[in-house]
Amino acid sequence: MQKTIDFLKQKGISKADIGIITGSGWSKLEDFFEIKERVKYSEIPDFPVSSVKGHKGELLYAESKNKSILLFSGRFHYYEGYSMAEITLPVKVLKSFDGKVLVITNAAGGLNPSFNIGDLMLIEDHINLFPENPLRGKGEFPSMLDAYDEKIRKEIEEIAGKKGIKIKKGVYVGWQGPSLETKAEYKFLRIIGGDAVGMSTIPEVIMAKSLGLKVIGFSAITNMGIGEKRKDVSHEEVLKVAQECALKAGEILKEWIEKYFSF
Ligand code: HPA
Repeated sequence: MQKTIDFLKQKGISKADIGIITGSGWSKLEDFFEIKERVKYSEIPDFPVSSVKGHKGELLYAESKNKSILLFSGRFHYYEGYSMAEITLPVKVLKSFDGKVLVITNAAGGLNPSFNIGDLMLIEDHINLFPENPLRGKGEFPSMLDAYDEKIRKEIEEIAGKKGIKIKKGVYVGWQGPSLETKAEYKFLRIIGGDAVGMSTIPEVIMAKSLGLKVIGFSAITNMGIGEKRKDVSHEEVLKVAQECALKAGEILKEWIEKYFSF
């Protein structure tokens, strides 16, 4: 990790107020910020690379109204074979640059029957069904009672309301994938309290909470696992729908950073 940080410092990155990790199809978020520096993950010493289509694999240093942003365009998934330590590296890098807030995004299958394909969901809470925890062996017990910062969520809702952008709210259930769910699994995940399901996000959020960062999360509902709209979904469709959601979230996020970020 030190090599990674030294390399980024050489690139002129000295501080980052906010970190953003983009999920499948979310790379358009970068269009909302002024990009100052762009580094391929493959150029960064000791940094993993994203192997999944729809993940650019670039670290961008961006600005928005004097706030500095580390935008990780492309994440590392457990299903790619990465360890929890590798998956959570972006969060640790953000903390080492004095980051205060992590914005996490993903593509997810809808479990709440009132949801529709293309909905943007603000994550209120999560249920962790991953087989491993990134804090295993660390002897730490961070509270997860306000994992997705309540105050920031209210601000995001207010901005979305003013802009006329409809958002859903709900509980994200995360597990390892990469196989998609059976009908019985989607039903099970709904019964246990999930509104959306995906294969990411939770390891990074746990690490962020252990490092004292505030977290805000968005899911793009790219397909439905429940109800009449349930059908097989291709990775291309997931990317296309997530991209539409990224444009809505980007607009909200930009305003939040400009209007409310003050940590
Ligand atoms: N299940 C799990 N992950 C997903 C889904 C899904 O239905 N859609 C997008 N990511």
